[in-house]
Formats: sequence, structure tokens, C-alpha cells
Amino acid sequence: MDIRRLEEAPGDLGGLDGKTALVRVDFNLPRSDDGAIADDTRLRAALPTIRFLRERGAAVILLSHFGRPKAAPDPALSLAFVADPLAAALGAPVRFLDRADGRPDGVIPGDVLVLENTRFLPGETENDPSLAEELARLGDLFVMDAFSVAHRANASTAGLADHLPTYAGLSMERELDHIAQALDHPKTPVMAIVGGAKVSTKIGLLENLVEKLDRLAIGGGMANTFLLAKGVDVGRSLAEAHLIGKAADILKAAARHNCEIILPVDVVTATKFEAGAETQVRGRDGVKPGEMVLDVGPDTVGELMDAMDKSNTLIWNGPLGAFETPPFDTSTIEAAKYAARLCRADKIVAVAGGGDTVAALNAAGVAEDFTFVSTAGGAFLEWMEGKRLPGVQIVTRGSA
Ligand code: 3PG
Repeated sequence: MDIRRLEEAPGDLGGLDGKTALVRVDFNLPRSDDGAIADDTRLRAALPTIRFLRERGAAVILLSHFGRPKAAPDPALSLAFVADPLAAALGAPVRFLDRADGRPDGVIPGDVLVLENTRFLPGETENDPSLAEELARLGDLFVMDAFSVAHRANASTAGLADHLPTYAGLSMERELDHIAQALDHPKTPVMAIVGGAKVSTKIGLLENLVEKLDRLAIGGGMANTFLLAKGVDVGRSLAEAHLIGKAADILKAAARHNCEIILPVDVVTATKFEAGAETQVRGRDGVKPGEMVLDVGPDTVGELMDAMDKSNTLIWNGPLGAFETPPFDTSTIEAAKYAARLCRADKIVAVAGGGDTVAALNAAGVAEDFTFVSTAGGAFLEWMEGKRLPGVQIVTRGSA
């Protein structure tokens, strides 16, 4: 992937001193009920680019959405809350700016400003060219630094690139380098673990992966639909019976493309889905009519470990069981710890992403050991589907 990197900007633009950089970040941060930032990963991800620009004498205006307002101001979704935590993390003052109508007064080199929620602006989500033009008047260059919104063609993501010299920020660059390494130019053999509740949300992704990978392990509730497609009775388990045909097609496509599919050989069942529920381990053909499959079993985890031993690259999206409710987190934690061990020993490159996945790896305490954990949810899934993401296309030369 030929990325237009931020490091090229000073040379291209005759230095950055006195310039104003518009930087698209993702401050769509999880907040707890009392308003505190529940996870500041995305806030911290913005720091390297801000520092890079300030050290070269640029002023920085940060653009982000927060939540899904209806193209109008909504005080509950103001981005004002990020200014102080960002200033603390950066060790420099941060000003909050609540409008986007022309260059703010008195901006000097090194200033950091946060613009109000871009989704308050009519035209943002439609990528209205006149809004992009208006935003572009705020700065001299555009830095796209949020892979996690790269799947959105908005005025503040893709639109600005039509009006300003555009570069990938340092965080975006890191994401692109790692994901390209994992799926586009991986060290083979490559395997993926895909879990989560539903096949319906991941059909495109599975279809794309079976064409590209050497092996694909399917876990979570979605594995039940595949087991149904193979004629296995999954009792009262969550499953999407209407997608049995689709699951069978994916299995056939995998066989055509020589992609080994790993489905659970044993499962953990319970009659109640609650924390601390009494559980049984059953062979996959032994699920009783009143039971639900809520995790994969120990033999399956063993198979996953063997498969990891035989692979050089692992892509992980989605938990193997109902991991938010112990003890149904057991297999996810064991398999994640094993992957982390292989990473630490330099035996595998492991890249993970997608909402629940990061939470699962954090719960297993291994996120730091993975080669790379993406900050992206939906964008990571769309990338796994093989889609061209608008926010990636604007920072890459040739085909992205
Ligand atoms: C995310 O949180 O995944 C991104 O910020 C995208 O948010 P959106 O789904 O509201 O566009």
C-alpha cells in the first residue's frame, strides 16, 4: 500500500511552520453514565500526530464526530468534554471551538483546537462538497488520522481531500501498515478466528476471507448456524436458521479455495444463560434439546491452538463464546492467551480488531501482547470484507 505519509508533508509544502493542519481524529469515545471517558484509547491515538505537527510549528485543528446527531446541535453530543482530557494527555493547552465558519482568530504555531462535533453540520454525513470547501478554509493541509472512520464518506473524512493536500496521520499510518501486512501481504499460512453472535452481520467478511486464507475458525453464536448447516442439532441455541443455505455456500466456497474451516468439535452448554450458570461440556452432536451452546469446548480450543502453531499470521475478530458472561469467556481467554504467547515468542503475527474483540482481549489481559489491535469497529469489518474504504483511498496512491 503506497501511503501518502505525514512525514512527506514538510518537504511537499515547504515546511509546516505557520501552517494550520486540519486533522480528522476519532473522538467518538465510550463514556460512562457520569460522563467520564470510559476508554481513552482513541484519544491517546491522536497524540503522535498532534505532537509531530506542533514540533514543526503548525497549529492543529482537530475534527471529529461524536455519536449520531441529526445534522443539528445537540448539547448531549457536544465534543467540549474532550478538551481538558486531551490537554492533560498532551501536556499543552487545548481550545474548544464551536463553529466551522472561517479561520478562528489568533491561531498561532503550536495551538491545538478541537472543533465542535462535525455531525452537527448539515451536509457532513452526505459528504456535501460545499461543506467540505467551507471546512477546508480553516487550514492549509488535511491529515486523515482515524482509520476507525475510514469507512464513512463524510465531508470531514473523504470530502476535505478534494480541497487540501492530504496525508495519513501517524496513527492511521500504523493501522494501515499493520492491516496491510495481515491480509494483503501476509506471512503465510494465514488463519482467522471469526466469532460473535450472528452470521448475518459477517457474511461479506466470511465470503471474502475464505477466498484469501489458509484456514478459518468460526466460533461464537455464529458457529451454531454453520453446525445447523451440517445437520447438527444445537438445541435451544442462538442460531439463524434462515441463513443455513448461506452458511452451506460459504463452506462450499471454502472447499473450492482450499481454505480449511475449523468448526467447534465440542461445546459448552447450559440451560440458563447467566453468570456462574452450571455448565456441561458436550461433543457437538451431544447437545440436549433444552440446552444452549454458549462457548466452544476444550477440544476445540486445542484444535485452535494447533492451527495457530501451523500459521504465521492470525487475524482475530469476535469472541468464541458469550464472553461478557463468565464462565462463557473461558475459551476466548485461553485461545487469546495462547495467541499472545506465540506473538511474544515471535512465532506469529496477530492482528485483532472490531468492537467486542478489543474488549475480549483486554479481558484476557493480552491486548498489549498482540502484534496490533486496531481501534476500529465497523471500519475493521469492512476492511475484512475486502471493501475499498473512502478514508483509505484518499491517503493512498494507486489502488487502495
Ligand atoms: C466507530 O465508533 O466505530 C466510529 O467512530 C464510526 O462511528 P459511526 O458508526 O457512528 O459512523
